[in-house]
Amino acid sequence: MLDHGQAPPATPAAGHPQPAGNPLFRRKPVERLVAEGGQGEGGALKRSLTMWQLTMISIGATLGTGIFVVLGEAAPLAGPAVTIAFVVAGLTALFSALSYAELAGSIPVSGSSYSYAYATMGELVAWVCGWCLILEYGVSVAAVAVGWGEYLNELLDGTIGITIPEGLSAPLGEGGYINLPALVVVLLAMVFLMRGAKESALVNTIMVVVKIVTLLLFIGIGVMGIKAGNYAPLAPMGMTGIQAAAATLFFSYIGFDAASTAGEEAKNPKRDLPRAIMLSLGIVTLLYVLVALVAVGAMPWKDFGGTEAALAQIMKDVTGHSFWGVVLAAGAVVAIASVVFAVLYGQTRILFAMSRDGLVPKIFAKVNPKTGAPRANAIIVSVFCGALAAFIPLGELANATSIGTLFAFALVNVAVIILRYTRPDMNRTFKVMLFPLMPILGFAACIYNMWGLPLATWIVFGLWMAAGLVFYFLYGIRRSRLATAEK
Ligand code: ALA
Repeated sequence: MLDHGQAPPATPAAGHPQPAGNPLFRRKPVERLVAEGGQGEGGALKRSLTMWQLTMISIGATLGTGIFVVLGEAAPLAGPAVTIAFVVAGLTALFSALSYAELAGSIPVSGSSYSYAYATMGELVAWVCGWCLILEYGVSVAAVAVGWGEYLNELLDGTIGITIPEGLSAPLGEGGYINLPALVVVLLAMVFLMRGAKESALVNTIMVVVKIVTLLLFIGIGVMGIKAGNYAPLAPMGMTGIQAAAATLFFSYIGFDAASTAGEEAKNPKRDLPRAIMLSLGIVTLLYVLVALVAVGAMPWKDFGGTEAALAQIMKDVTGHSFWGVVLAAGAVVAIASVVFAVLYGQTRILFAMSRDGLVPKIFAKVNPKTGAPRANAIIVSVFCGALAAFIPLGELANATSIGTLFAFALVNVAVIILRYTRPDMNRTFKVMLFPLMPILGFAACIYNMWGLPLATWIVFGLWMAAGLVFYFLYGIRRSRLATAEK
């Protein structure tokens, strides 16, 4: 592993075999990926993150809209069995999380699944994967930021009795001109991201603690309002309802892989990344199941459809004081802001890795020597995501987040299998158990979930992929560092 103080290699790492043959299938050797780790244009990322901070990055990117907003949409689909739906969705995430953990421990770089695909399936698949990650990270930031505006209004209403007018809190086409709160939260995140990883991690940790405490508070208070009768019948819509709810709730698990975008800023990535991924998924799943159990126990499931902020409503009803509803809204505002922040962080690091490989412009890999952070990258990504959140009605685009994520997860499951066969002796700090059953199940679960998404989402996905391929054939294929190294 390289120390962060080391100068960037001017030429591809010496001694590593140079790929040849069809450019679409050229692979980046694992050793070279690792050797280049941390190195950017004009400086290096700083290795400062501990296992707990990495875990917090993953929890930061995961815990937010899903539990505070989407639970309210999923409860009417499955009834009290929404709790089981959380477990089912969590299992889908778990199969892929195991594969992520194995690869993050073997290839501890910042590109996440993009880099894993580059090492195993070649440049074209890697590009497609990286392009999907923009849906998982970049587009979801915008979608999540929009949800933040709704909770902010709830909080403002509960505290000072004022809400932001529709014209300034919704984009054109949805009754307004601009979604100002969504833009503001993204730009706020940008300000913190321009500092180093250590400072970003501190801000992230504080926000994660606030959101976990908010949910624990909800569990502690909500449990007093549980009525056994609310649990019966457990699954009024049967398995179909549970399945539908689980598909909706998959969104709430997106983000557990965020630690794998911090591989080049981790102090001991090989040891800590797999632990952080598994730990964050465990903590998040436990919280989801407990919150759901309390929520459907304290409020009849049929009432969830009638309120946007179900958890805040339950707090009000159980305590009889609107103050507790406001506390919950405040927690949700912090929680969702933290998702925006952590996901934005992940997006900058993925583009950093892609830029270092020459597949996107060099500016994304430029490191500010003072802060050790990719500042220009943070600004470009934030402005792009902020504009998306502010001006575009996100409907279909938000659904595209799920399809892009599932596709990237599917590729990670394939990558883990390929690497086991092509590099059986590689040092692996974490190994998927029951190999190859688990990654095969992971792959199947992703494809199954993709299959269930509406046609319109597939069309958006197809258009997005076509745009990505055009960009690759016009730009990346010639600028790739593997291509220039071959000349
Ligand atoms: N999992 C993230 C959330 O629920 C995207 O907000």
